[in-house]
Amino acid sequence: MLEHLKSNNRAWARRKVTSDPGFFKRLTAQQAPRYLWIGCADSRVPANEIVDLDPGELFVHRNVANLAPPQDANYLSVLQFAVDVLKVEHIIVVGHYGCGGVAAAVDGQRRGLVDHWLHPIREISREHRQELEALPHEHARLDRLTELNIVRQVWNVGSDVFVQDAWARGQRLSVHGWVYAISDGLVKDLEVTVSTPDEVERLR
Ligand code: CO
Repeated sequence: MLEHLKSNNRAWARRKVTSDPGFFKRLTAQQAPRYLWIGCADSRVPANEIVDLDPGELFVHRNVANLAPPQDANYLSVLQFAVDVLKVEHIIVVGHYGCGGVAAAVDGQRRGLVDHWLHPIREISREHRQELEALPHEHARLDRLTELNIVRQVWNVGSDVFVQDAWARGQRLSVHGWVYAISDGLVKDLEVTVSTPDEVERLR
């Protein structure tokens, strides 16, 4: 079963060791990533690959539509570990154009549990209804909603107590919002980076 994946894995591990004999030995000792990536679960948006980082360099949390919901124990556990233990210096919220989760949030269809998960995006859509309705077509509206969702998640992360407490301790930490284009493989910085509680307040 899944023989091609297992043989891919053996070939990959062999290549790693060939180019760097101590690679896995070093990883066994510890992980010390400088970045936490909060991204969409979409298979076309593989975190390490997009920014060309090796295992050990990126702490990753992915879910449908790259949300950072302040009640989600999974995300909060990742966030606290990244901030308090790993002491990452950068948290990057990465959304992507063409996100099925963002589209599903506002198309009015019933899908089940995911409709609840995507509820925050419907709220963002309502709050920015005027701006979104002024856009010429559905495609532009979804692209903009994707960006607005990223900005909101940056705000969620920046206003979280784990992050606020880290700043109060004097820990250096920035939260960034990026959007990825599946069409050309490039990320765009939405320039909503926050590194202090004041900057978080100014974001909304
Ligand atoms: Co997506």
